[in-house]
Amino acid sequence: MSDAGELQKLEETFRAAIEAASDEAALEEVRVRALGKKGEISQLMKGLGKLDPEQRKARGAALNQLKGRISALLNTRRQALRDAALEERLKSETIDVTLPVRPQAQGAVHPVSHVWEEVVEIFADLGFSVAEGPHIETDWYNFEALNIPPEHPARQEHDTFYFHKKDDGTRRVLRTHTSPVQIRTMEKGELPIRIIAPGRTFRCDSDQTHTPMFHQVEALVLDDHTHMGHLKWTLEEFCKAFFETDNVKMRFRASHFPFTEPSMEVDINCAWQGGQVKVGEGDDWLEILGSGMVHPNVIRAGGFDPDKVQGYAFGIGIDRLAMLKYGIPDLRAFFESDLRWLRHYGFRALDVPTLAGGLSA
Ligand code: PHE
Repeated sequence: MSDAGELQKLEETFRAAIEAASDEAALEEVRVRALGKKGEISQLMKGLGKLDPEQRKARGAALNQLKGRISALLNTRRQALRDAALEERLKSETIDVTLPVRPQAQGAVHPVSHVWEEVVEIFADLGFSVAEGPHIETDWYNFEALNIPPEHPARQEHDTFYFHKKDDGTRRVLRTHTSPVQIRTMEKGELPIRIIAPGRTFRCDSDQTHTPMFHQVEALVLDDHTHMGHLKWTLEEFCKAFFETDNVKMRFRASHFPFTEPSMEVDINCAWQGGQVKVGEGDDWLEILGSGMVHPNVIRAGGFDPDKVQGYAFGIGIDRLAMLKYGIPDLRAFFESDLRWLRHYGFRALDVPTLAGGLSA
């Protein structure tokens, strides 16, 4: 066979091998076989020394060209293999963002969280903003500034969790209500005030409708003209929006809180049927909130002049609202972390309550 024929055959062989290589490792083998130190083309290069100058020149040039072409083929094939591998990987790793949320989600949004969001949504619509305060409070914020001096009987009613006394004789408490946020908000010194403060509260108490940790939402409105009519209207609007019906019966009962004057408690009518609680039916009453006009001493403690500033406050039990609205009979189950209970009473993560879309979703 002529030299040229031999090289052409070699080129054909390598070209076929390169095309047949199915991955980069196989391709590398072909490269070594052709161009590696001991590869076939390299061997032929070594043989050039034995030729006479004329032949060497012609064959050397032919071999160099062959080497160049094989190199180019190898590179092209390598790139093609890489592209294909990347393509494959992208295909296997794609996330279809249009897929619906996994239906078999394990958890659920707790009714308290859901109701909390519902309450915030309603009051935000009425122009309130959300304020916060710490769970661990000083005596001043939880009691004293709220017109509950040390010897006041209301201190007993609150079943307070106390911390150990400090060296200076003071002791902190787990806040027994969200009312301390009233003082913390007033302290900022800006009027008018229209806030709600949802949060955790603590009392040493446990039965079907009481747990040692529970939730309240406080409201405080303070300016130079707000009166009891505004309070009553706001509460009625809230109840209609929250229970999503105009039929809820509300009972305003004269009451007493040290931090409001006058004060009233509000009950909602409900029926207990076979361990179920139904709102808007029957003639049992469940207390859901305490309210009243902010006491002058509290306004003073908050840094304002009660002759110039007035307003109302109320505190609603969030857990009570959840029990009533969603017919959950026992409050203690709220905090037992029983996944079966949560699956039954919980909400889907995407069911965010909105006034437009429906609160309970
Ligand atoms: N802090 C009261 C309670 O926990 C509720 C309340 C708040 C009453 C504001 C009146 C005004 O029972």
